[in-house]
Amino acid sequence: MASVALFILSVLAHLVVLHSAEYSKEEPSKHCPGHFCSDMVGNISFPFKSPGDPPECGLFTVDCSEPDRPKVQLKEGGYWHEFQGYLFSPSISIKDRDLAARLEKDSCNDGVFDDLSLPSASPIPEVSLSTPNLTLFKCNTTLDKNSYTQLNDSCENAYHTYYIASADSSLPSPPSPGCATIQVPILPSPPQPITLSSLTAEFSLYVEARKCYQCRERKGECLVEHGNYKCAAREKGDKQVKLKLGLGKIDISAFKYLIGMHTHLGQVLEPKDGNLSFPNPSGLIF
Ligand SMILES: *[C@@H]1O[C@H](CO)[C@@H](O)[C@H](O)[C@H]1NC(C)=O
Ligand SMILES: *[C@@H]1O[C@H](CO)[C@@H](O)[C@H](O)[C@H]1NC(C)=O
Ligand SMILES: *[C@@H]1O[C@H](CO)[C@@H](O)[C@H](O)[C@H]1NC(C)=O
Ligand SMILES: *[C@@H]1O[C@H](CO)[C@@H](O)[C@H](O)[C@H]1NC(C)=O
Ligand SMILES: *[C@@H]1O[C@H](CO)[C@@H](O)[C@H](O)[C@H]1NC(C)=O
Repeated sequence: MASVALFILSVLAHLVVLHSAEYSKEEPSKHCPGHFCSDMVGNISFPFKSPGDPPECGLFTVDCSEPDRPKVQLKEGGYWHEFQGYLFSPSISIKDRDLAARLEKDSCNDGVFDDLSLPSASPIPEVSLSTPNLTLFKCNTTLDKNSYTQLNDSCENAYHTYYIASADSSLPSPPSPGCATIQVPILPSPPQPITLSSLTAEFSLYVEARKCYQCRERKGECLVEHGNYKCAAREKGDKQVKLKLGLGKIDISAFKYLIGMHTHLGQVLEPKDGNLSFPNPSGLIF
């Protein structure tokens, strides 16, 4: 009985290796090579990507078509913020002269607020973004001052009224159905009390992707697929790596059993993560 099981496992294991070898040859586009921008900026790699890269290569697109004026898009399809210096310092130094001039000229403009507004959170928990910021309510109705005494600094244009949400506010967010919540960058140590004049288009945005650094140390490649972070292996000609790319989703205990039977397959890269999940299901069922 045991020898039959062993034989079946052996056949399966070899099928997997064969299939995987095919897979890695056929789909080199899965890989994100990274792009050199300039000596100042460095390489564009996860969590950043270049405009031509497939979406799985990163979260924030960096345009280096003018290496002296690199730009980063914090929200898909959103504003391109001009930045200075190295991408991984670990903060990006956003210094957007155009936006700063627009903010100075008209501090209560919908377009300026839209362009200033930060992503409410990073699209994936493995990458975090942070910078000093202020929460504003963008309302298409004027709120009654008497019922909303906490909202004492505001500005108004023809379409919207913006209110500063105070930090200790007990108000719901947003406070009224006609309001949306946005976050905008402010000076690191603004004069108190905070007013709308503390908004800035020059700020340091910390971008941390610790899991990805660990992944790279293991020679993995960081990807984001269908909204999920993934550490995929990238070295060619290595059986373990091909296994990772070729397999679908299997339970770790079955995988360990397989490895136990065939020790020549070696160790998996991420045994602690529980389940192993791979870019492309092979259709094999265990
Ligand atoms: C940028 O990437 C290239 C290869 O893709 C590598 O040789 C180089 O060391 C990298 N530079 C930096 C600053 O990371
Ligand atoms: C905005 O500030 C809050 C609280 O200080 C912080 O938790 C959040 O991460 C910040 N958001 C961004 C995008 O920096
Ligand atoms: C509102 O005004 C009070 C008193 O003037 C002040 O203590 C508080 O910080 C102000 N809140 C905001 C959000 O500016
Ligand atoms: C006001 O804003 C709310 C929520 O953002 C929206 O549902 C509503 O249609 C807006 N009303 C007008 C008159 O623009
Ligand atoms: C592993 O997969 C099972 C079923 O697919 C799921 O219930 C479980 O939460 C997963 N565990 C981890 C650590 O992802």
